[in-house]
Amino acid sequence: MAENPAYPVGLRLTGRRVVVLGGGQVAQRRLPALIAAGADIVLVSPEATPSVEAMADAGEITWERRPYADGDLANAWYALIATTDPEANTAASAEAEAHRVWCVRSDDADQATAWTPATGHSEGVTVAVLTTDARGRDPRHTAAIRDAVVAGLRDGTLVAPHHRTRTPGVALVGGGPGDPDLITVRGRRLLAEADVVIADRLGPRDLLAELPPHVEVIDAAKIPYGRYMAQEAINNALIEHAKQGKSVVRLKGGDPFVYGRGMEEVQALAEAGIPCTVVPGISSSISVPGAAGIPVTHRGVAHEFTVVSGHVAPDDERSLVDWPSLAKLTGTLVVLMGVDKIGKIAETLIAHGKPADTPVALVQEGTTAAQRRVDATLATVGETVRTEDVKPPAVIVIGAVVTVGPEALA
Ligand SMILES: C[S@@+](CC[C@H](N)C(=O)[O-])C[C@H]1O[C@@H](n2cnc3c(N)ncnc32)[C@H](O)[C@@H]1O
Repeated sequence: MAENPAYPVGLRLTGRRVVVLGGGQVAQRRLPALIAAGADIVLVSPEATPSVEAMADAGEITWERRPYADGDLANAWYALIATTDPEANTAASAEAEAHRVWCVRSDDADQATAWTPATGHSEGVTVAVLTTDARGRDPRHTAAIRDAVVAGLRDGTLVAPHHRTRTPGVALVGGGPGDPDLITVRGRRLLAEADVVIADRLGPRDLLAELPPHVEVIDAAKIPYGRYMAQEAINNALIEHAKQGKSVVRLKGGDPFVYGRGMEEVQALAEAGIPCTVVPGISSSISVPGAAGIPVTHRGVAHEFTVVSGHVAPDDERSLVDWPSLAKLTGTLVVLMGVDKIGKIAETLIAHGKPADTPVALVQEGTTAAQRRVDATLATVGETVRTEDVKPPAVIVIGAVVTVGPEALA
């Protein structure tokens, strides 16, 4: 005879007593969701894993350190039976049945009156996947379906349009250093929901190819503007499209607030009364060295790292960088936009006391298929950039951390 399918339901457990029998791995996996649901949880178990014990110490659950005893389920709304003692599990299961308490059994799904679905969350929605009957139970399959749905919702490959009115406005999204996998989940989702995307030259350009044909993609570098007017032209484009009621994503390389002029755009949008949300990104200043096997800090080697712009030379009156002070620091110096001026930067650092043999690495087009690392010292880097023809974009790392990683990673 075909078994009836389980009836799916969402239990609202706030303040309601839930009894968990057994403090092992099953409890450890299930308790966080019960805690998040606001349940009044009583754990009955002589022992518990360190994580479960920490939940009791934090007051998230009440732990009674003893084996199961008849009567434990009397006032419960829901029970999770997961002890290592089959007899106790059977007795507790019978008690749950007698008191009409829905109960999950970790050791015998057939005897349970409830099953825990494989669950995941995305943007205010819980995805819960159950198999239809106990005989067809395949927890790996349900978990795989849950993963596929949640991953698809998060990265935008599964598009579920919102039927509530979307708030038009601008999302300033940090796209990470270049590898399309290094954008945040939120950034990728907003990209998938956008009507218009205004993108920089740096960042995950490959993601633009995935956008549906109706999405208007604007290359920020090609917005017509006069000299020095680029940022204003971009601000205007953002404002105009948002005013037309469109969802606009401003896609930037790395993090929007690390040499990204992100706050200028936020300010312009605020002045125009346009709602704006900022999604942080993985900055090239840390991730590009890391991708080339260089940690910006390392125990016993560098206790600080300083990120600095090298777009103007140290002797340029527009420079805001205190190079003599930087020369005295013992930690790591990370220079962005510095390929053209690295010779002069190195000379200035040496002139102010930084040892000429300090290791330097230049990482060009980090995290992309074209990634390339070139090593030098402060004394040689100016010449090396020329002979090796290093081109922007590159992150330059100066300091002892350059040589701490295994060569295989470099
Ligand atoms: C205008 S700044 C923008 C930085 C960006 N907002 C961030 O957080 O990474 C551009 C500089 O970032 C660095 N850069 C960005 N992406 C890079 C990459 N994939 N590889 C090497 N350097 C990169 C280079 O120094 C480049 O000149």
